[in-house]
Amino acid sequence: MAKIEEIKIEEFNTQEFIAEKIKEISSLVGEGLAINALSGGVDSSCVTMLGHKALGERLKTYFIDNGLMRDGEPEKIVLLFKDLGVTVELVDAQKQFFAALKGITDPEEKREAITQTFYKDVFGNLVRKSRAEYLLQGTILTDVDETVAGIKRQHNVFEQLGIDPQEVFGYKIIEPLVQLRKDGVRKVAEALGLPESVYKRMPFPGPALSARVIAEVTPEKIKIVRLATSITEEELASTGAFQYMAILHQDRVTGMRNGKRDYGLQIEIRCWDSIDARCAKPSRLPYDTLDRLANRIVTEVPGVVSVTYNITSKPPSTMEAV
Ligand code: XMP
Repeated sequence: MAKIEEIKIEEFNTQEFIAEKIKEISSLVGEGLAINALSGGVDSSCVTMLGHKALGERLKTYFIDNGLMRDGEPEKIVLLFKDLGVTVELVDAQKQFFAALKGITDPEEKREAITQTFYKDVFGNLVRKSRAEYLLQGTILTDVDETVAGIKRQHNVFEQLGIDPQEVFGYKIIEPLVQLRKDGVRKVAEALGLPESVYKRMPFPGPALSARVIAEVTPEKIKIVRLATSITEEELASTGAFQYMAILHQDRVTGMRNGKRDYGLQIEIRCWDSIDARCAKPSRLPYDTLDRLANRIVTEVPGVVSVTYNITSKPPSTMEAV
């Protein structure tokens, strides 16, 4: 497999990049059809706009509701793109994802279950239904690096692992952003006319909230981490940090509530300063901010008695817990 040549942010012209990628997508797909999945993150939003500029109606865009997204996310993203003139079809695949995740505790097995459900079951069906030959997706260079290095199997990397998507899933994959890192993608997103809420959007992983539940993922645990995530995002929005998140731990700890013992849940908060996610340091948040956040979580999230703040850098930590 040829090494992917990185395009550094200092050395690229966004308009030339956009024109080149539109040309490349048009010539690869020809008169055929393509599909893509939009999650609303900056990578998939960029690919959606590039694809629509290249293919118009011949690109069909879906939002896969895997049941693992943040509060109200599927509906918000569909509406946002409607305003940009792009029709996005919402696909309810919640049952399929929870069934695939049932009983799995190992982090890499969880990632594999998500990958297979996405690419084989859900996309496989959509490709057959739509008769598309191509899937456009927003893999970036950091996803490839970490997967190839064996750190984490990112949900969207195949060819670099020697997996031929055509053979395994029955369609070809086009990755227009694979030479860029996050900072470069943000520049392209801005140049494509996407709103600030998209091009400055905090990264969110493909496996979504399942990357933030230690051990088995269930609808009940997702509900808890989703609520903690909303509070964390509200309280830390003004920090300007690269990424912040709430993680639900498996271990319980003894707490007390109303004068009684409460053997309850633990939430870990992580808040990262980073440029491109390759390395990261925990933000030095003011103690008052942490205090307010912890108080809100133990008050508003049922069953939680402990909130901790991660003070470890990447490496050796990674940003997501799973
Ligand atoms: P880690 O946890 O590997 O995260 O230090 C680095 C950055 O990548 C995001 N991330 C993912 N993004 N698919 C993605 O598209 C994935 O499977 C995935 N795993 C982690 C993470 O949120 C962080 O910004």
